Amino acid sequence: MKLPRRFFQPLAIGAPEPLREVPVRLERMIHFVPPHVEKMRGKVPELARQVDVVLGNLEDAIPADKKIEARQSFIRMAEETEFGSTGLWIRMNALNSPWALDDLLEIVAAVGAKLDVVMVPKVEGVWDIHYVDQLLAQLEARHGIARPILVHAILETAEGVKNVDEIAAASPRMHGMSLGPADLAASRGMKTTRVGGGHPDYKVLGDPAGSAARTAAQQDLWHYTVARMVDACLANGIKPFYGPFGDFSDPEACEAQFRNAFLMGCVGAWSLHPTQIEIAKRVFSPDAGEVAFARKILAAMPDGTGAVMIEGKMQDDATWKQAKVIADLADLVEAKDGSFAGNG
Ligand code: GLV
Ligand code: MG
Repeated sequence: MKLPRRFFQPLAIGAPEPLREVPVRLERMIHFVPPHVEKMRGKVPELARQVDVVLGNLEDAIPADKKIEARQSFIRMAEETEFGSTGLWIRMNALNSPWALDDLLEIVAAVGAKLDVVMVPKVEGVWDIHYVDQLLAQLEARHGIARPILVHAILETAEGVKNVDEIAAASPRMHGMSLGPADLAASRGMKTTRVGGGHPDYKVLGDPAGSAARTAAQQDLWHYTVARMVDACLANGIKPFYGPFGDFSDPEACEAQFRNAFLMGCVGAWSLHPTQIEIAKRVFSPDAGEVAFARKILAAMPDGTGAVMIEGKMQDDATWKQAKVIADLADLVEAKDGSFAGNG
């Protein structure tokens, strides 16, 4: 293990100092754009005003014969668009693919100063993060990039889940992690054909009750992994995200899955379709009633200590901290959206 005092040293001479904290930014939805599709690219300037993060997808869903075009089109899109406070990310190709190296070499050279985060797919362990970390430091140094480009891992292999704690702690360059339920299902040998969400056969059956039909409740296939991811991320001061929800015809199920992730600690999810932008905005903005209550707690306990009763409920240091999470999020939403409508 690296010595703690060396953890925050730049990995290349001339690379920027690693950040001590992940920047505070609203990232309720990471909106995926296939850069090689001209029609989609044309919508990016308008999209950049609606979403919190625009991500140029170079990996899965981009056909092999369009990989280079997608990369070059992403560079053009990044050069031509004013992103303001909206984040600009890429999902690079997998590290064992023929495209990964040039994704980083060409994109950092051309638009590294504008790029906030590189999403790395199929991360299996710290070795993957260390490789990208070192290479980014070399490229930042070569191209005079003043602000470190952060790394976001997709948790989508059985080995990655096994190593999730070490991955979260691998580098000060770590921004966060997203659950990748489609690849993870394949990697684990799950018997599903879906991109995220539940399955009607994954359920708990109530005891037989005479002649009445037995009750059955569908369970969340992703509960275990999201819980491990949230703990790994929050223990290391980085951000957890739910990933994709592939059934665009079922916005209700998408919303329920996003909401479970939000309540468990995730700060955002991927939007793969325009309808999912509003769903994510609604879910990952705090509930207006909760915000009002959280602000009451903070006002009643200005220094965050002691105990008070509000509306019959006991408040102490621990509820003050929960209230602070909600109120801080509401402040970010207000700053971005102008007004605060809250979710629900
Ligand atoms: C995302 O990349 C997934 O595999 O779910
Ligand atoms: Mg995947």
